[in-house]
Amino acid sequence: MCGIVGYVGDQDAVPILLQGLSRLEYRGYDSAGVAIHTEEGVRVHKVSGRIADLVAGLPPGFAGAPGIGHTRWATHGEPTAANAHPHVDMSGQVAVVHNGVIENAEELREKLAADGVEFSSQTDTELIAHLIASALEAGAESLERAVRQALHSVVGAYGLAVLEAGHPDRIVVARNGSPVLLGVGDREMFVASDAAALIGYTRQVVYLDDGELATITAGGYRTFTLEDRSTAKTPSTIDWDVVGAEIGDHAHFLIKEIHEQPRAVERTLKGRIDERFDTVRLGGLNLPVREAREFRRVKILACGSARLAGEQGALLIEDLARIPASTESASEFRYRNPVVEPDTLYVAASQSGETIDTLMAVQELRRKGGRVLGIVNVVGSTIAREVDGGIYLHSGPEISVAATKSVTSTVAAFALLALYLGRMRDLSPAEGRRIIDGLRALPGQVEEILEQTEEIARVAADLAHCTDVFYIGRRRGCPVAREGALKLKEISYVHAEAYSSAELKHGPLALISPDTPTVAIVPDDDLLAKNISTLSEIRARKGPVIAIAHRELPADLADHTIIVPKNEPELDPVLMCVPTQLLAYHVAVALNRDVDKPRNLAKSVTVE
Ligand code: F6R
Repeated sequence: MCGIVGYVGDQDAVPILLQGLSRLEYRGYDSAGVAIHTEEGVRVHKVSGRIADLVAGLPPGFAGAPGIGHTRWATHGEPTAANAHPHVDMSGQVAVVHNGVIENAEELREKLAADGVEFSSQTDTELIAHLIASALEAGAESLERAVRQALHSVVGAYGLAVLEAGHPDRIVVARNGSPVLLGVGDREMFVASDAAALIGYTRQVVYLDDGELATITAGGYRTFTLEDRSTAKTPSTIDWDVVGAEIGDHAHFLIKEIHEQPRAVERTLKGRIDERFDTVRLGGLNLPVREAREFRRVKILACGSARLAGEQGALLIEDLARIPASTESASEFRYRNPVVEPDTLYVAASQSGETIDTLMAVQELRRKGGRVLGIVNVVGSTIAREVDGGIYLHSGPEISVAATKSVTSTVAAFALLALYLGRMRDLSPAEGRRIIDGLRALPGQVEEILEQTEEIARVAADLAHCTDVFYIGRRRGCPVAREGALKLKEISYVHAEAYSSAELKHGPLALISPDTPTVAIVPDDDLLAKNISTLSEIRARKGPVIAIAHRELPADLADHTIIVPKNEPELDPVLMCVPTQLLAYHVAVALNRDVDKPRNLAKSVTVE
């Protein structure tokens, strides 16, 4: 969603801001802007459109420092240049970029209007600029103090950065519910809402907590609270590299990330297999064995693809640890006043670690004393810092809006958790060994599937002519089907629906026709006969079938079979997911879609 970048130092801020903003493009946005400090005061340049438009329209001589920049994903007010950030007060002294939503915006707007303030946008952010300027006019002796005073009257979520004319040495930032991190350079400092913006500049970062502010100057930073109590923060090191966030020779980040899956899964597993005891080591769980044995249920909370990976996770936990496990949409959970049980282990899964609904579910759990683990990709993200412990995916940066490598890595992480919980209960060493061998085989087997990319692209070319596609699967195939359908609709805009194979004849079969193909997940397992009978029902209605299976299905059952290598039945779904990603990708390419930035979608959903 919206992105913030800021720079204080001796260099011209503009190229740094533009570079940082283009690294945040993946989050989704519809307008962008920058503000810089110059000898003539604060100068602002903003556009409705892409960073390329912002660059193309830069006024001559537009240079200075410090500076702040923003990519906006419209929530309050149209995606126009006027509504784009940065916003300035009436005198043009104070410039603000802001992520989040101010809940008492209407009340503040009325108050400011009564004081004679005229507004130049429909945004809630502009109100913050006016509030800070009013505090300065009323005698606040520093920008920090003015920002603190302004924020005392603001109710809502914010991550913000503020620049003031006449103060070329500093930017003031604040965080409440929307991520802000500081980047520590050599005689220069950065601020960003997402570490991706800092790649190439620094790996030393300081994460602000909710209710925290910071002043950054070229020489360093000071963090403090709204009441001006200093807080002590030490920098941590981020492990992402430039290459991970570059597109390289690939046409899209999405296909790059699909192809990164073997290495991503490898990294999720790395250092965690305990050969000696046929189990795994998960030091980050912070969960003593005695306590871990007491849990009688596991409840997984997540959104979107992470939720579907969680559904696979629940099945793994039930299968391997024999603990009843279920998955729920984090947003449904948080709004239904959930009963939080002491003998339930809660697990929040999130690639970004910033998804607001998942974060709120975690906070609700913590308020009620629940034990909550995180399965998260982005190190140092808010969810990762709020949970009691967890497993980092270490899949590397996922830039494309649609989740791919984070999905397979999340399922691999759930397999580790399931194995860990299983081996401390009734899963035998031999069974533990079987799953470990299966996990180790995954990266190579994903490679084998990726070698079929061309063939899958040919199948996708046929799907691209369809308006509706069904995805079906049974048991472990269900979440695979659901994830496949989500991926297809999300990036190709082709309508897709997923059903449990058994549910088909309870309604959707009525829609099967020669124009409605079905992608069927058909593993070679104990339910093969059942799956074959479902395929026969579809074929009897002349429905085209694309099967994802362990061996070629006869032509009377499927028009195409995409063959995936066989692993252990519990782990087969990880592999069966990969062809669905490739299908969605190639349909989207055939339809000329904006694959990495599908319409209306953002990478991390940080507002409701
Ligand atoms: C789908 C997709 C989304 C995310 C969801 C949760 O491809 O990317 O459905 O999975 O928004 O995001 P995280 O995992 O960051 O919490």
